[in-house]
Order: sequence, then structure tokens, then C-alpha cells
Amino acid sequence: MKLKKRVVVITGASSGIGRATALACARRGAHVVLAARSARELDRVAQQCERRGGRALAVPTDVTDPGSVTALAAAATARFGRIDVWANAAGVGVLGRFDQTPPVNCAASSTSTSSAPSTGPGPPCPSCAGRAKASSST
Ligand SMILES: NC(=O)c1ccc[n+]([C@@H]2O[C@H](COP(=O)([O-])OP(=O)(O)OC[C@H]3O[C@@H](n4cnc5c(N)ncnc54)[C@H](OP(=O)(O)O)[C@@H]3O)[C@@H](O)[C@H]2O)c1
Repeated sequence: MKLKKRVVVITGASSGIGRATALACARRGAHVVLAARSARELDRVAQQCERRGGRALAVPTDVTDPGSVTALAAAATARFGRIDVWANAAGVGVLGRFDQTPPVNCAASSTSTSSAPSTGPGPPCPSCAGRAKASSST
């Protein structure tokens, strides 16, 4: 897929898979919209993306909060006019035996991971809604 000047929203962009995705997209000339809770880390990744040739917008976001995700979609659309790709990499992993893992950690893992896809830029983003319907239902 050609990414030059494509608008790519990436959740979990401050670290790990999301950050690597953002840098790779920026290297290919994409406009990246970076989302995670940590504003400081996001700003750092935004600078790294711009050094690689992309334009970057950092939007502090909590994907477990639907209003926050709606605001992310709105910010992306306001800045770049549309959204072409939405990549959900936000998540919390838990390593350990299930019976030895505190319930609060399991809850955080499933909430952040399962809420991200369901709060993608469908209804909140008018510019995407029609296109998403037209292209596919995946
Ligand atoms: N790395 C692997 O090999 C691997 C393999 C299989 C599955 N996974 C899963 O893939 C996901 C990402 O892995 P990773 O290695 O990239 O993890 P990571 O380095 O810890 O990155 C997680 C990213 O998600 C963000 N995030 C977490 N909760 C969030 C929330 N509520 N709202 C917005 N952003 C949130 C974090 O930023 P903030 O904390 O600033 O919000 C960070 O940017 C995890 O669920 C992990 O379990 C990873």
C-alpha cells in the first residue's frame, strides 16, 4: 500500500508496536496521528516521525474512553482532512500465570485491548463513515 500523504491514525503510538508502526509509516511519507495516554512520550515520537519525513500530530488519548477516541478522530480529521488508515496497537499485556495474576491487571489488559477496536473512527468521524461503508465491513 502506498502511504505517501496517507493519513494514518495509530493508537499505542508512544511505545512498542505502535511506535514502530508510526516510524515506519512516517518513513514512507504518511501523515501520522499518534495516540496514547502519555503526552510527553507522544511528543517525542512525533518529533522522530517528522525527522523521518512524515507530518505528525500527537493526540493524548485513552482508548478505554469512547469520548477520548471520538476526540482523536475529530482531531485527525481537523488537521489532515480525512482518515485513511486506523491502526489499533494500544494494549496492555500481562505476563504470568493466570492464577497468580491480580484481577486488576487482567481487567486492564482486556479493557484496553478489547475497547480499542470497538471505539474506532466509525460513527464519530463523518468523513470516514461513508467510506468505511463503501469499502468493507471488516
Ligand atoms: N510486543 C509483542 O511481541 C506482542 C506480542 C503479542 C501481543 N502483544 C500485545 O500488543 C499490544 C502492544 O504491545 P507492545 O509491545 O507494543 O506494548 P507497549 O510497548 O507496552 O505499548 C503499549 C502502547 O499502548 C498504549 N496504551 C496502553 N493503554 C492505553 C490506553 N488505555 N489508551 C491509549 N493508549 C494506551 C501505551 O501508551 P500509554 O501507556 O502512554 O497510554 C503504549 O503506547 C499489547 O496488548 C501486547 O500485549 C505484543
